[in-house]
Amino acid sequence: MDDLRDKYLTAIAAAADEAALEDLRVQAVGKKGEVSLQMRELGKMTAEERQVAGPKLNALKDEINSALAAKKQALGDAALDERLKTEWLDVTLPGHRRRPGTIHPISQVTEEVAAIFADMGFSVAEGPQVESDWYNFDALNIPGHHPARAEMDTFYMHRAEGDERPPHVLRTHTSPVQIRSMQDHGAPIRIIAPGRVYRADYDQTHTPMFHQVEGLAIDKDISMANLKWCLEEFVKAFFEVDDVELRFRASHFPFTEPSAEVDIRCSWEGGTLKIGEGDDWLEILGSGMVHPHVLRSGNIDPDQWQGFAFGVGIDRIAMLKYGIPDLRAFFDSDLRWLRHYGFANLDVPTLHGGLSR
Ligand code: DAH
Repeated sequence: MDDLRDKYLTAIAAAADEAALEDLRVQAVGKKGEVSLQMRELGKMTAEERQVAGPKLNALKDEINSALAAKKQALGDAALDERLKTEWLDVTLPGHRRRPGTIHPISQVTEEVAAIFADMGFSVAEGPQVESDWYNFDALNIPGHHPARAEMDTFYMHRAEGDERPPHVLRTHTSPVQIRSMQDHGAPIRIIAPGRVYRADYDQTHTPMFHQVEGLAIDKDISMANLKWCLEEFVKAFFEVDDVELRFRASHFPFTEPSAEVDIRCSWEGGTLKIGEGDDWLEILGSGMVHPHVLRSGNIDPDQWQGFAFGVGIDRIAMLKYGIPDLRAFFDSDLRWLRHYGFANLDVPTLHGGLSR
């Protein structure tokens, strides 16, 4: 027994790795190991002999098992030490200098528009991007057969088989927020509603998701003259010019009567756009006096109240103001583009502090 102890304890102490250790375990205390075989011999002994040899063998088995466990732990610790030597990291070193992120031009322009209209007493309203067919179309005087539905390249949501209700849509414009605001707050109203809108269209100036801002003002005596003044103030403030000439061109939208598209005087000298001078006109928005049907959809009595509405493409005015040629790049998340066209993240646009930079 002493020979066995010496043999195994020495071998265990010298084992180079876990595999060698496992071999030794099998040789000594495995099913057919030397110590195990000795234990089987106990059966052949007399009771007296067994009383002496039994406890000794058990003690030897325990001793070998503990030696195996201790060595295994030691080998593991050594391996970890070895690994830590190569994976060492000095956490006291200073970190990399971080480049602060930038504000996306869309966020910047949305803030600019909100600041300008807040100054005229408009608050910001919101509505869902997945909209019911009724809010997106019917309530805005666009009934089922109306050609405007087909023109909008609408994305329809899925309806379960057999569900006859009209499918919801990804809103094709921000105009449904008009209806929700009327229903929620009643007249008088002065809101703008910026947000995402969706149409199945894709080229240099169209992306399937883009942004609009809707404006709505309802009161007892609001006229086209108020619309014109508000839009002039807006355009001057937004493009940061002292004077600007707007052209109201008769147009048609189902939700306004009369309707006007608004152009601003501009020039394109050497490829750069100048607002407020020159012989060109640039269309920037749609507008008009809110149609009585639309007021009724919003539970507002058209015999008592009237108002104006307008819709502007945020991406479009951002491209014009900041000279960004391709709309698709807005949504590519290319860091170089974002660093180039993005805005410092602490410059909150205000009318007194300056809108851009
Ligand atoms: N909803 C229109 C569009 O998506 C834009 C618009 C035009 C909104 C005239 C208005 C408006 O409120 O009066 O093209």
